[in-house]
Amino acid sequence: MTPDLMRAGAETRRAAEERAAVATAAGRSGGRQASWSRVATGELDVAHGAILYLDDITVSFDGFKALDRLTLSISAGELRCIIGPNGAGKTTMMDVITGKTRPDSGRAFFGSTIDLLRLRENEIAEAGIGRKFQKPTVFEHLTVFETVAGMTDEETERTAELFLSLEGSHSLVVVEHDMKFIDALTRGRAGRKVTVLHEGRVLAEGSLADVQGNDQVVEVYLGR
Ligand SMILES: Nc1ncnc2c1ncn2[C@@H]1O[C@H](COP(=O)(O)OP(=O)(O)O)[C@@H](O)[C@H]1O
Ligand SMILES: [Mg+2]
Repeated sequence: MTPDLMRAGAETRRAAEERAAVATAAGRSGGRQASWSRVATGELDVAHGAILYLDDITVSFDGFKALDRLTLSISAGELRCIIGPNGAGKTTMMDVITGKTRPDSGRAFFGSTIDLLRLRENEIAEAGIGRKFQKPTVFEHLTVFETVAGMTDEETERTAELFLSLEGSHSLVVVEHDMKFIDALTRGRAGRKVTVLHEGRVLAEGSLADVQGNDQVVEVYLGR
């Protein structure tokens, strides 16, 4: 690739590199969205409304429970934001969903029939679950200043618009620390839920306003 092409590619990727997102297929599966959506609704049984269901998942590392009987359900077409302090288990949860880590116990289903715990990583990807890793990267063509400011407010807003445009046709789980971004994703739609993870479990779930007003969430994550 020429330096120009590489620069262009880096620019395009830049917004997305900052985010960790799992997108699962749901709803119509058009060609445009092929990279995220290989499974048409007809092939995936979402009869119970849930496209992703984690039930009582425990993951231990040398006796320490990174996930502690985590139960979580994502509806077909939903855009769910997951927040929580460092060490809450967010990455481990993504690892379980995508087959990178096997839980000690619990169940994980894609739709109501695909048992994720029986599939290998590549089979999970082929079933329609994609993942964008959290991957801090230094782009050499950016100045130190540009690198430190990270994404501009406008870029954050545009990324939020992109995610919102996928809602409904895709199901998305977004792990994010930037509360401005979470606000942009949940603003104006009371139904959009935010889940707060803490110590491997769901500490709170509800609208952004609900969780922001939750004393325990303020205590462990948001601060006073
Ligand atoms: N491979 C591992 N070995 C040992 N401990 C781990 C491993 N992966 C994660 N942990 C621990 O599990 C907990 C949850 O980690 P993680 O899922 O990365 O949290 P988060 O992404 O919410 O910051 C942390 O205490 C972390 O140190
Ligand atoms: Mg993490």
